[in-house]
Amino acid sequence: MKTSIMQVKNLTKQFGGITAVNDVSFDVNQGEIVAVIGPNGAGKTTLFNMISSVLPPTKGEVWFMGERINGAPIHSLAGKGITRTFQNLQIFENMSVLENVMLGVHTQMKTNVYSAALRLPRVKHDDELARRYALEALEMIGIKDQMNEIAGNLPYGLQKLLEIARAIVSNPKLILLDEPMAGLNDGETSKIANILIEMKRNGLSFLFVEHDMKTVMRIADRIVVIDFGNKIAEGTPEEIQKNQKVIAAYLGEEVL
Ligand SMILES: Nc1ncnc2c1ncn2[C@@H]1O[C@H](COP(=O)(O)OP(=O)(O)OP(=O)(O)O)[C@@H](O)[C@H]1O
Ligand SMILES: [Mg+2]
Repeated sequence: MKTSIMQVKNLTKQFGGITAVNDVSFDVNQGEIVAVIGPNGAGKTTLFNMISSVLPPTKGEVWFMGERINGAPIHSLAGKGITRTFQNLQIFENMSVLENVMLGVHTQMKTNVYSAALRLPRVKHDDELARRYALEALEMIGIKDQMNEIAGNLPYGLQKLLEIARAIVSNPKLILLDEPMAGLNDGETSKIANILIEMKRNGLSFLFVEHDMKTVMRIADRIVVIDFGNKIAEGTPEEIQKNQKVIAAYLGEEVL
């Protein structure tokens, strides 16, 4: 039986006179990969930003595991079990790969700036734990060999993997990925696709925005299609590929 872990309810975002997202609703179930697709400027990132509490919705709500999360402080989401990656990479370029991933653990730990400044015993313990979790995540994603490299020096494909390692390190239940395959070659793309499928088998859920239709059709259990801010279709890859509204929205793009 499917268990819904997140409910997106009637999300709407207006920027001045523009309605970027209009009354969009859908669920994400446990252990499911859900893709959000749509032409450029359709509203996908705006939708993601509302779901991850980066932007307040004009209307609508987001619920996760029985709790309303829109409006919750961004830093509280990892503790609730949601992490995300960004369309534009957000890594700390001057820090090592390992340090970048350790930061993902610290967002969930009890250490705060005061105890860190006072060098309380708890900090040392947390640091060791963070290091252990980070190494596990790097191993899982396959970039442990690069752990001591400066993140900014890594090739783009490895930086994308680093972002994913940081997203999984706090042991989330749901990961939001905004265009995880963008700018990657076929080998790197299928590597990430395989990682998502593997983690899904362990019960993790994913919601991802992606333009690479081949990958979307291969790994998504369900697809939500956005056009001009509206949800125009939702279904399995098979259903979406023959949906007339979707074909019309992508007319001329030959992507489906
Ligand atoms: N901060 C903002 N202020 C004003 N308008 C915005 C803002 N952010 C997005 N928009 C507009 O909202 C619409 C949706 O943008 P959004 O970035 O969500 O689309 P997208 O589907 O992610 O596009 P892409 O595929 O290019 O990433 C666009 O018309 C965009 O110009
Ligand atoms: Mg976008």
